[in-house]
Order: sequence, then structure tokens, then C-alpha cells
Amino acid sequence: MNILILGSGGREHSLAWAIKQNPKCDRIIVAPGNAGIAQLAECADINILDGAAVVTFCEENAVDFVVVGPEAPLAEGVADATRAAGLLTFGPSKAAARLEASKAFTKEICDACAAPTAGYARFTDAASARDYVTKHGAPLVIKADGLAAGKGVIMGMTLSEALDGIDEIFGGAFGAAGAEVVIEEFMEGEEASLFILSDGVTCLPIGTAQDHKRVGDADTGPNTGGMGAYSPAPVLSDAILEQAMAQIVRPTVAEMARRGTPFEGVLYAGFMIKDGQARLVEYNVRFGDPECQVLMMRLGAQILDLLLACAKGELAGAQANWADDHALSVVMAANGYPGAYAKGSVIGGLKGLPEDSFNMVFHAGTAVQSGDIVATGGRVLNVTARGDSLQAAQARAYAMVDAIDWPGGFCRRDIGWRAL
Ligand code: AMP
Ligand code: GLY
Repeated sequence: MNILILGSGGREHSLAWAIKQNPKCDRIIVAPGNAGIAQLAECADINILDGAAVVTFCEENAVDFVVVGPEAPLAEGVADATRAAGLLTFGPSKAAARLEASKAFTKEICDACAAPTAGYARFTDAASARDYVTKHGAPLVIKADGLAAGKGVIMGMTLSEALDGIDEIFGGAFGAAGAEVVIEEFMEGEEASLFILSDGVTCLPIGTAQDHKRVGDADTGPNTGGMGAYSPAPVLSDAILEQAMAQIVRPTVAEMARRGTPFEGVLYAGFMIKDGQARLVEYNVRFGDPECQVLMMRLGAQILDLLLACAKGELAGAQANWADDHALSVVMAANGYPGAYAKGSVIGGLKGLPEDSFNMVFHAGTAVQSGDIVATGGRVLNVTARGDSLQAAQARAYAMVDAIDWPGGFCRRDIGWRAL
């Protein structure tokens, strides 16, 4: 079959890499893709936020299956457009994508199904929000309701940080995403993520992972899109996983179906775990990046069968087959990230690296210039490895990092520390 993946990051590179290993895949196209993706797939320059343009491209190229990577096209309703055109699609509808696109909506769903999560209040004006915070006291978490590229969450550890956060969001720092503010109770604990395929009715967990959000070693410095990940995440024990499925995930999927907006796609559930219990921090309606890279390393070719079963509403009979293995991904970013960084620095040493089911360098922000691979984004490479143990995966990943010659980039040296 001919498969179109929408996106241009390391997430989409790893999806293309795993899907291509499945004999069902004849042709694979990624739009818009990047320099690493171009080594294994065709890249197409289409506006992936434009549902009509995506449908036209699919019709002209005999695409049989569309896989949507990032949240922005989902929130724009691109999966609705492709489904309406009769195309088999992996990715939720615009209505179901509200689980990521509106934090207030997710809180409503949690209320409706009594899912454990942080207590909260919602505000549409700064004066009432400031009043609430002043009466309540710190710590509190201040969130812009809408999509803010992962930047719309402000930790109000002190009263003044919380008040500044309110002013920042209502001051327009996140545009329309900040028209409403959700203020949450601060939850303590350890974070981990669970990825669940849902066809609207059946929920199939396909793996756990832990991200590293802070830019610096030992979780210091500002938040980023993620500096590394590993899977499985031992903090999500079988017992906690079952509690989270029973109290949070399955009730959410049932509530979405009850409302006539079934969730069809991958639900990325972020949990805070404390005293053997998971509470929901947030949902995303797509794979995590770089969490997807470690899941694809472990799942390999079967991911295509799972995504197809999900898109066809046939998850009831599906199963994810896990080896007893571990995967770890180190993000290499341009010097300066998550602040200002230069573009165009040359990355050497990639050609000699192994590319097999134990070692892969997935590309995020790269392009080819005069025959060289150059950095074009903040997060640039995802150096990913698999092993019998997390230690083995970590050693392989850092051996590849050390062979990459890129003075314009850096990485954390401690990915995996919580589990090790
Ligand atoms: P979100 O985009 O909602 O996942 O928030 C980004 C990050 O902020 C999360 O991954 C947590 O580290 C942190 N966070 C969000 N909400 C809370 C909360 N209620 N309590 C503690 N930390 C939180
Ligand atoms: N790594 C965090 C995310 O994909 O949202």
C-alpha cells in the first residue's frame, strides 16, 4: 500500500523507518519531511495544515493510508477532511483533538468521568484569576487553555510567579490560546507517559516512556520540547498502569464516544505518579517527540499493522508484541536552544554510524546544503539505540553521540538517569 505521513520531525522519521520495514508498505511519502527522512522515503512539499491540499495530493498519488504526526493538522481538522474523502486515516477528528487543543475541555472530561487529576479553576479575565491566586496562595500551575507549542504552562512556585504568569497569558504572550486560563493545583511526584491506541471503543496500550523536559543535566534549566526519552518507564508499574487505564484512559475514551466525538488515534497520557497512584497531567492526541522514537525502535514493523487496525476500528483483536528490551534516545540540539540559536551549522560524522534495528539517528531539524547535512532547527538529531538493558541502550546511544562531529550542537549526558 501507499502511505503518506504528515510531519517533519524525528517522530515522523521514526514512524517512516518502522512502517517501511513492514512488507505491506509499497511506497512511503512524508510531507514535508527532512534530510534524514529523504534517505528512506519520498518527501513532498505540501501545506499539511490544508485538508483540501492533502486530499488532492492523496488522490493524485494513489495514497491508501494517511498517518498524521503533529497536533497542528489534527486541531485544524485535516483528519476529518481525509476521512470525508474516503481515505483510511490514522489521527483523531478536530472535535476529539480538543483533548490536546483545550486544557479546559480535558478538565471537563475528567470531571464527567471522575478521572483523578489536579484540582482546577477556569478564568477569562485577569482580575478574577489574580484574585483567586491571591486567596489560594502558591504553588499553583498557570496554563493557557489552547495550543502554545508546549510553552503555555507556567509553574507558579511563588505568589509573584503565579501572578506574573496570569499577566503574561492574558497580556497576549500566547495569542488566542491564552483567551482562557486554567489554574491548577500543583501536583508532586514523578512524571511518565503512556501511549494508547484507541479506535473509539477499544483501548490498546502500546508502551510507556519518560521524557526529559529540562535543557540541562540533572533536570536543570528551562523547559524544552524534550531532550531525551527512554522506554519502558519502570515507574509505570503494571499495577499503576492498570489503575490509570481503569480510572483515567478507558473512562475518557468512553466519555468521548458518549458525546458523539469518539477518539480515534493515539492518546498520549502524561501522568504524575505518587504513592502508587497516577493522576492525569495532560493528554496529547499524537505520539510524543522524542518518545515516539523509542517506541518505534522497540515496536518495529508491527506498528503499521497496529495503526491500520486502529484506523479500521479493529483494535479489539489486535495486540502489541513486546520483546524484553529497552530503548533510549538522546536529543542533540543547536547551541543556545531553547533560546536563540544559529541555523546552518554543518554536522559531520553521520555517514559512518550504524543504521540497524539497534542503532538509528533520527533527524528532526536538518537539511542538505552543498552536499552537507546542516542544522535547521532547535532540536536537530535523535540518537536512538536499543539493548537488552537500559544501560546497554544508553551506552550505544552515547557511543554514537561521541562519533558525531557537530561543534554547533550539544546534548544532555544523563538521559535515563531516573531509571538507572
Ligand atoms: P502540560 O503541557 O499540561 O503537560 O504541562 C507541561 C509540564 O508542566 C508537565 O509535563 C509537568 O511537568 C508540568 N505540570 C503541568 N501541570 C502540572 C500540575 N498540575 N502539577 C505539577 N506539574 C504540572
Ligand atoms: N516530548 C513532549 C511532547 O511530545 O509533547
